Amino acid sequence: MVLGVCYYPEHWPEARWAQDARWLRELGLSVVRLAEFAWAALEPAEGRFDFDWLDRALAVFAAEGHQIVLGTPTVAPPAWLSRGYPDTLPVDDQGRRRNFGGRRHYCPNSAMYHEHTRRIVTALAERYGADPRVIGWQIDNEFGGGNTARCYCPNCAAAFRAWLQRRYGTLDAMNEAWGSVFWSMIYSDWAQIEPPILQLAKPNPSHVLDYYRFSSDSVVAYQQIQVNLLRGHARPGQFITHNFMGLYPDLDYFDLAAPLDLVTWDSYPTGNADRWRELLTGSAAPDPAYAHDVGDPALTGMAHDLTRGLLGRPFWIMEQQPGHVNWGAWNQAISPGTVRLWTWHALAAGADAVVYFRERAVLYGQEQYHSGLLHHEGTPDVGYRDLERMQSERALMDRITAAPLAVRIALLFDYADLWAIELQPHRQGFHYLGHQFVFYRALQRLGLPVDIVSWRADLSRYRLVLAPTAHLGTDDRSAALAAFVTAGGIALLGIRSGFKTLSNRVTDQPLPGPFRQLTGATVTEWHSLPPGGTYDVQSSVPGLTGSAGVWAEALQPPDNADVKVLASYTTGPLAGHAALTAHQFGAGRAYALGWYPTPAQAEALVAYLAEQAGLTRLADLPLGLVAGQRGKYTILLNFTDTPLTAHVRGHPVLVGARDIAVIPPE
Ligand code: GAL
Ligand code: ZN
Repeated sequence: MVLGVCYYPEHWPEARWAQDARWLRELGLSVVRLAEFAWAALEPAEGRFDFDWLDRALAVFAAEGHQIVLGTPTVAPPAWLSRGYPDTLPVDDQGRRRNFGGRRHYCPNSAMYHEHTRRIVTALAERYGADPRVIGWQIDNEFGGGNTARCYCPNCAAAFRAWLQRRYGTLDAMNEAWGSVFWSMIYSDWAQIEPPILQLAKPNPSHVLDYYRFSSDSVVAYQQIQVNLLRGHARPGQFITHNFMGLYPDLDYFDLAAPLDLVTWDSYPTGNADRWRELLTGSAAPDPAYAHDVGDPALTGMAHDLTRGLLGRPFWIMEQQPGHVNWGAWNQAISPGTVRLWTWHALAAGADAVVYFRERAVLYGQEQYHSGLLHHEGTPDVGYRDLERMQSERALMDRITAAPLAVRIALLFDYADLWAIELQPHRQGFHYLGHQFVFYRALQRLGLPVDIVSWRADLSRYRLVLAPTAHLGTDDRSAALAAFVTAGGIALLGIRSGFKTLSNRVTDQPLPGPFRQLTGATVTEWHSLPPGGTYDVQSSVPGLTGSAGVWAEALQPPDNADVKVLASYTTGPLAGHAALTAHQFGAGRAYALGWYPTPAQAEALVAYLAEQAGLTRLADLPLGLVAGQRGKYTILLNFTDTPLTAHVRGHPVLVGARDIAVIPPE
């Protein structure tokens, strides 16, 4: 387990660098990330470089044994660039050209921006690509951050047209795929197509979905320019990464991760918790079970498990909240023990390194109110104290890091599904991520480790695959799930699955479209239910009987013994129809669920399915106690202010408030 820090030599007097390098080493930190915002300091005027200060900083930190991760600074183009080449500035969804003076102020499709990118990245790569002190590269910083994933400038409009021509070949094919005949939107010339903004009524959802895909592809392609340059100079062993943002929804993270050696993410549990909770559960109110300053471990855990699932390998935390943040709604102070708890949570979820943001609170600029390991004036803050406490745990952390991950459950996640539902939720509050989150939280409550994966994943290493909403159905997707089930797997397909094609129009097949052969049951009706509207459900699965809300689908099993009904609606217009079915399919079983489960129902169902899949789990984890599994180590993490007990292999294990317990292999 490696620990490190984000350090900004350009923010501090040079006389202090050496003493900072020393105390960081003494505190057990050995990785330093440098320079990801330093473009103006590295290239003060077009084509004139100043690497001397970075050379000196590298030397100072390397002298204390630190390994360096270098950022490419393209997140923050300097004033000479933005002012000299105004068409590098992005245009937002209100058609406004955005201004210099913050960060991320560039268009990923600007040929001029590409040229400037190539110059600075090549210069950095030539200088440090062979440098043994530099262990890796971080490209840019948090692509899409601050709502910047989509640009609507003329450069992007032109690139979008070219993207559509590649995707569809002919205008006729595109018009057909989009259903452009609706509302007279047939295009007779590629030049007529614009980005889908500023319409008087809603734009065509097929047009918008393609714009979202195109925007994501644009960032991926922009990143690839840098990947190629770095690959040309990096010595073997230097990794190339980017720092992702957990559950951030506007970029296809599977695509963005694919060309990288390592995925990292920036974990700020309190900054995000209220916003995400509001989006995912409809209420920003903190869960009273958790301590007030730990964030929501289900949200943090889901982000860890998605990040790990992007490449199916251990990941890094490139920025870990070290104390309070400055950009949340409340920015509460952090108590002793919390930073350590977050660090252990990341480790338990498969992180091989945790890098804290940042070493000391900065005296100026937009983030003056953000904490560091040290207070502004240099005295230790809460994260520093936690790191002191972790010193004695480092050997144990190393042993756990060396243990392989072996996860047997997959949660299928797809960004185009997310975008399609976001464009037409059909019911206020229906969020793809929120629906996934109900299942994720159930898995975490049950102590069942899960990989969050895309359709590209090799499903054969799993025993249970959950697909809460496989919205855009294709024959390939249904074949992948069918192969998994045929070979003995247990799969669950939830509501709104197979409803649409990849171009975001409704399938002409009976529902769930291409998945119908797999589930065996047909969806004959689907109802969006208003707040408070529910139908009663009766089920033979323990804990599932109750009410179905939000969304309800009637399932019609065929007249054959291969499909069993495990739950039915007993009231309302769907009374008498099946609500949960199980299809014996090859050596495995495909389950179809007809409604949006409550958290308790999701828990009951996932527990049942895990049992069907032959998976064992910790019994009766109390709320607030999270379990991680790395190799044969079980790690228990208490996110509450009271001691809690879990039962592991028949023995009670008491975990103190905001504390952890490690149960080693037998
Ligand atoms: C991250 C960002 C950092 C810093 C930090 C503050 O999202 O990558 O540069 O702004 O937030 O919490
Ligand atoms: Zn643009």
